[in-house]
Amino acid sequence: MLGNFVFSNPTKLYFGEDSLSYLNEELPKYGKNVQLVYGGGSIKRNGIYDKVVEILKANGKEIIEDGGVMPNPTVEKLYEGAKLAKEGNVDLILAVGGGSCCDYAKAVSISAHCKEDPWEKYYLKFEDVDTDTKIIPVGCVLTMVGTGSEMNGGAVITNHESRLKIGHVFGGNVFPKFSILNPVFTYTLPEYQMVAGFYDIMNHITEQYFSGEDDTTSDYIMEGLMRSLIHSSRIAILNPQDYEARSNIMWTATWALNTLVAMGKSTDWMVHMLGQAVGAYTDATHGMTLSAVSLPYYRHIMPYGLAKFKRFAENVWNINPAGKSDKEIAEAGLAAMEAWMKEIGVVMSIKELGVTEDMLEGLVKATLVMDGGYKVLNQDDILEIFQESMK
Ligand code: NZQ
Ligand code: ZN
Repeated sequence: MLGNFVFSNPTKLYFGEDSLSYLNEELPKYGKNVQLVYGGGSIKRNGIYDKVVEILKANGKEIIEDGGVMPNPTVEKLYEGAKLAKEGNVDLILAVGGGSCCDYAKAVSISAHCKEDPWEKYYLKFEDVDTDTKIIPVGCVLTMVGTGSEMNGGAVITNHESRLKIGHVFGGNVFPKFSILNPVFTYTLPEYQMVAGFYDIMNHITEQYFSGEDDTTSDYIMEGLMRSLIHSSRIAILNPQDYEARSNIMWTATWALNTLVAMGKSTDWMVHMLGQAVGAYTDATHGMTLSAVSLPYYRHIMPYGLAKFKRFAENVWNINPAGKSDKEIAEAGLAAMEAWMKEIGVVMSIKELGVTEDMLEGLVKATLVMDGGYKVLNQDDILEIFQESMK
């Protein structure tokens, strides 16, 4: 039965090949000082930076440059960005990049005027933004597809010193005010990043799908999203410039994690907790940390949620149930997912991401345990999953 919920998503989306022009409609709503957040330089190489700067200047904005946001943004960078935003009296933070830039922009938006240490407050203590803390509005121009950060309140920050990668999902007032989604902007992504994004999307959906035993509309929506993703990913691998496939994938990514499909149902998120521990130790690409631990995790919990794994096999992977036991059907579904993962070329082992045997104990400790899935993992379960992921 659907639980009670309040649903509101305040992010305004502009989607399509001409979507950047709508920046002209958004900019007049904010003051003069714009903190322009971007990553390691891809937007300078592919020309998006010049296009954005031209629009900012045409709208009379003062640009406060904040480049160099690394994949898996760090707490040190957050402190720097927050200082820049405060001292620059920033009116709008415009993130141009992938999930790292969008997440970082959101984290800066709530840290600039925060009276406490934001890492401690938001990430170690999981506290919310104080009602009297000024939140700087954020806008995004998305160039990498996967995280859903363009339409949610998530902001993941990594602390390499304490080897912690923590995500905090903030409320609606931290969501981007607007996001611009042009599928063409994603064409220059290296294949490794593109497929990491594909798996990130898939896993956002399975994290929310594999939980609960009740009948929810969300599960049917998610099955459709997964089918669309699988279909389009196969086309995009062969032709990365197939607009239809890349635009469908971009849209699927947004729906996978803009909070809608989680409404009224329990969710799991355990693969992300395992993946974040791997990320904290290796700084590996987010989607690949998920792909590397997923199958060992799902095979581990399958007996506890057999009916859903059977449904996944039949409705997402078209497994013919005739003559098979429930367990065999469920296993065939995971085998089909494994074949698809290999087909698109995601990383299947944490060893490949740089994890060594001596890290396993630390990884277990760094893994937060969630209780919304089919089994609440204990330390032995987690170790077993990591060991299995080393193969
Ligand atoms: O830094 P630049 O030079 O821009 O290069 C980036 C980066 O190296 C490159 N890239 C992005 N767009 C490109 C491009 N290269 C060429 N052409 C383009 N159009 O791709 C690399 C990866 O970018 P990044 O932003 O790090 O990837 P992603 O979007 O996967 O974001 C990862 C971060 O988001 C967090 C992850 O933990 C990680 O820190 N997540 C955020 C979530 C949320 N807000 O809800 C949920 C996710 O589960 C995830 O945890
Ligand atoms: Zn993710």
